[in-house]
Amino acid sequence: MPPRQRFAVFGHPITHSLSPRIHADFARQFGIDLTYEAIDANPEGLAEAVHAFFVEGRGANVTLPHKAAAFAMADIATATATRAGTANVLTRLPDGRLEAHNTDGDGMVRDITERHAMDLRGHTTLLLGAGGAARGVAWHLLDAGVGTLTIVNRNPVAADNLADAIGDPARAHTRYWEDLHDIGSFDLIVNATSAGTLGGGLDLPVSIIGSRALCYDLSYGKSAAGFVGWARGAGARYAFDGLGMLVETAADAFERWHGKRPDTDPVYTELRQTYG
Ligand code: ATR
Repeated sequence: MPPRQRFAVFGHPITHSLSPRIHADFARQFGIDLTYEAIDANPEGLAEAVHAFFVEGRGANVTLPHKAAAFAMADIATATATRAGTANVLTRLPDGRLEAHNTDGDGMVRDITERHAMDLRGHTTLLLGAGGAARGVAWHLLDAGVGTLTIVNRNPVAADNLADAIGDPARAHTRYWEDLHDIGSFDLIVNATSAGTLGGGLDLPVSIIGSRALCYDLSYGKSAAGFVGWARGAGARYAFDGLGMLVETAADAFERWHGKRPDTDPVYTELRQTYG
């Protein structure tokens, strides 16, 4: 029998990661025998841990706070990872090189447009945050046809850098966080800040929520509870966390590694029962 293929997710902390469970569920759909472990690596120890894993390992997901470091340590990168400058998937290629890829943007757009059946075309969009998570989804929102992308970040320099990298001033531009209360309302508000994950909250004005607004948090569970609760309380028509995005991004990684497309719906439904 061939040895079981090894996969992993690297993060810090990583104890509550759902990725091992999601990949085990996907593998069961095809009768694939694999191991998928959660590996806790702090930033100083990441490179050593990743290289040790890839002596045998085939592929790894990478989550907070390592997505930029994962991109930097790869030998080559896909166009999607390169424009974001971050990676959530590392794959050992047949020639031994380590490839960086990013499935966040595709996963988020598919969750919104297919699972939640929402059409993003023409939406005025507010992107809160300009870090790794925001960079992972910004281009995909534009590709999905949003009308405008207003990037607002606590530190305005990071927002300007992202807008410059996008290079589409007619559609993507920045505003100051301090001006949120008078920049009007939006059809789509994406929370790509790490405030919820870090245990903090965002003090957002209700005036940014348009009449048909969809509010979307890239995180899930406790990390997303503050923003999603705020959106519902403030009357947003739709408010979703990123649990569906997590499952979709995992499916893209799974397909990349195994050449097979898993059915995400049963996995999402089961996880949703746990995460409300
Ligand atoms: P991630 O990979 O999750 O994006 P990151 O690259 O460290 O992590 O980026 C975190 C983002 O959340 C940044 O946009 C950060 O804003 P700053 O660039 O101003 O630091 C944003 N963020 C974190 N905590 C925040 C808070 N309490 N209020 C507003 N923005 C916050």
